[in-house]
Amino acid sequence: MSVGIVLAGLGDIALSAHLPALARNSGVRVLGLVDPDEHRRELARALLPAPAFADLAEVLDDPEVRGVVLATPPWVTTGLIPLVTATGRFVLAEKPVATSVRAAGVLAELPEPQRGLVQVGLTYRHDPAMELLHDWITGGRLGSPSLVRAQIYDERRDPADPAHAGRIEGTLRHGMPVVHEGAHVFDWFGYLLGGPPDRVADAWAVATRPDLPAPNLCGARLEYPPSGGQGTPTVVLAEFGWLTDALPRCEISVLGDRGHALLDGQSFRLELSTAAGLEQVAFEPERTTRCFDRQLVRFVDLITGASTAPAPDLADGLAALELAERVAVLAGESPR
Ligand SMILES: NC(=O)c1ccc[n+]([C@@H]2O[C@H](COP(=O)([O-])OP(=O)(O)OC[C@H]3O[C@@H](n4cnc5c(N)ncnc54)[C@H](O)[C@@H]3O)[C@@H](O)[C@H]2O)c1
Repeated sequence: MSVGIVLAGLGDIALSAHLPALARNSGVRVLGLVDPDEHRRELARALLPAPAFADLAEVLDDPEVRGVVLATPPWVTTGLIPLVTATGRFVLAEKPVATSVRAAGVLAELPEPQRGLVQVGLTYRHDPAMELLHDWITGGRLGSPSLVRAQIYDERRDPADPAHAGRIEGTLRHGMPVVHEGAHVFDWFGYLLGGPPDRVADAWAVATRPDLPAPNLCGARLEYPPSGGQGTPTVVLAEFGWLTDALPRCEISVLGDRGHALLDGQSFRLELSTAAGLEQVAFEPERTTRCFDRQLVRFVDLITGASTAPAPDLADGLAALELAERVAVLAGESPR
């Protein structure tokens, strides 16, 4: 029996990644496509013909609907999660689940049974490259990780695509890149380095143009506890940037006394350099396909009971948000 799923929010990531993943998964039936914007509904129906609705409430009465994928902006997602879980349905909610810790209060207070219905779209946690990097680090291939540099650059401003720039500037109004991208990146650090940082040592923010609604470049220095609790902390230098006409490379580098690992931020190709030489690993199919497929399989398993707990769960999503907000505040920005 396939599970009935509704996709709400038919924007960029829904049409480029969630909808194709839903269409590829034979265990899923799409019972509704929801967006207040008629044009987005038409675009989605052209990719996958399913009933379309302007408001999520219109489909939540259908007993065939077992789960909802929320690909909505974070300032909308926060209110939709409780709407879905109150009906006993499962929800896969895009990150970040809110734009501030205060706004996320309603989620932190969800009753325990409802929290168990929420999987958070920290999509790249599911990537085999992340698992392999974790194995390299915990298996001592680099020695103890001393320095992690994360350069997270995305959303290049393309002068030929002002609609995209306008949409990303709109998102910037709801918080600096660290709030949106940090959801993924702080989740990865927690997984790779065995838990949260001991402290955020410092943070900074810069706007490349005075008319931007918030700084579009920001970063922080964080200290994570040493592996095994002994030795020196791991220093993490994290930078986040959007909306310049050209962007630096997006990558994560992990350096230890015995080796250096490099994760390409777009493809998730991995390199490990040690005294023994260079190891290069690439996974198939390409990153978006494999991660959204794996994420959806986890969600279907949660719905069918094949797995009993969401992963990543709401606590993971809230922890990443809290850390991102700590960075933003230390950099001088008020939570939005
Ligand atoms: N997991 C990932 O890799 C990944 C990648 C990109 C974006 N995202 C996240 O996905 C979310 C959406 O991003 P996007 O780039 O697709 O944004 P977008 O602005 O392109 O799309 C959002 C869509 O939601 C619709 N919407 C607004 N209110 C709604 C409501 N009440 N009900 C239903 N639909 C509603 C809008 O009309 C719009 O079509 C963001 O939180 C973003 O951070 C995640």
